[in-house]
Amino acid sequence: MKTPVNVAVTGAAGQISYSLLFRLASGEVFGNDQPIILRLLEVTPALHRLNGVVMELNDCAYHLLQGIVPTDDALVAFDKVDYVFLVGAKPRGPGMKRNDLLECNAEIFSAQGKALNAVANPNVKVLITGNPANTNALITQRNAPDLDPKCFSAMSMLDHNRGIGLLAEKCNARAEDVRNMIVWGNHSESQYPDLTHATVKGVSALSLVNDEWVANEFVPTVQHRGAKVIEERGGLSSAASAANAAVCQMRSWTIGTAKSDWSDWISMAVISDGSYGIEKGLFYSFPVKVSPEGEVTIIQDLERSEFSRQCMLETEQELKIERDAIAHLL
Ligand code: NAD
Ligand code: LMR
Repeated sequence: MKTPVNVAVTGAAGQISYSLLFRLASGEVFGNDQPIILRLLEVTPALHRLNGVVMELNDCAYHLLQGIVPTDDALVAFDKVDYVFLVGAKPRGPGMKRNDLLECNAEIFSAQGKALNAVANPNVKVLITGNPANTNALITQRNAPDLDPKCFSAMSMLDHNRGIGLLAEKCNARAEDVRNMIVWGNHSESQYPDLTHATVKGVSALSLVNDEWVANEFVPTVQHRGAKVIEERGGLSSAASAANAAVCQMRSWTIGTAKSDWSDWISMAVISDGSYGIEKGLFYSFPVKVSPEGEVTIIQDLERSEFSRQCMLETEQELKIERDAIAHLL
């Protein structure tokens, strides 16, 4: 039997966690021979709700689940932790933009960054889901100066999967037939879902769909999908699909893209090293490959049209504005 890994999830009594925790405990992310200890962080008033979730986890009798630590103390939740899902944050409601959440959520991530810095395993992998995810990742990383910036990523896989789903549907194909999807930039309406390099059953996607569909349907549908889900779900934001994206991103980050369902590349918001001219230090979604050891490499030298360059700059610009708005927390 392997030594258990410590996995922390914040917002553990919330919507996303209600799907995510059960998938973690079943072995979907770290493998069906890898025992785990779940360290579950909530705010104090939600500890009762969290207790209900802990009861249900126990009632599943998962063989891999070797311990559960429910707590309202980040230093306990993150103690020697190997993997962290930072989910706990306020979700937006109808009519809001994700960066309207910056004011109420930003402080959560500065506090949790400090706690990670103090007690996490130095090789920890931290996936930020709480919105606005990219800027919250920046806040977390900057408040954890002793950890390698590569320990942090923000979630782009929901947008990546949305793009795959839409293209597959349009081409009457299956999700697994679609390769080389890219989402550039911010997890917001300014993101740029890019089909330039995508293929369907090995054929260029752009030869199968027309420019009008790409510009007027594909791009805006992916950009606004989160808001549309909120509208259709009567005010609740995506939860099961968000948990699924967290599973996909952490699994690929852990076992490497070659062995994952996305053997080409995945989209992942990581700290920019200046690739494609994107300002260093911003958390920007790039197409990346991950080695079996978990080393993330941004795919280089992809051709970009003038339209793509412009879209990539616009989403970068929004990230700079968000960063400047929370400069006091960096
Ligand atoms: P939710 O309201 O159902 O759950 C959030 C939970 O976080 C609550 O139980 C709350 O008590 C808890 N929480 C708040 N502050 C906390 C803190 N400081 N420490 C620990 N827990 C805390 O919300 P949800 O639907 O689970 O969504 C969570 C976040 O994820 C939201 O910000 C939402 O917008 C975001 N989200 C992001 C993506 C993405 O693709 N990046 C997708 C879906 C949702
Ligand atoms: C999503 O993309 O579904 C989430 O970020 C939730 C939201 O507010 O859109």
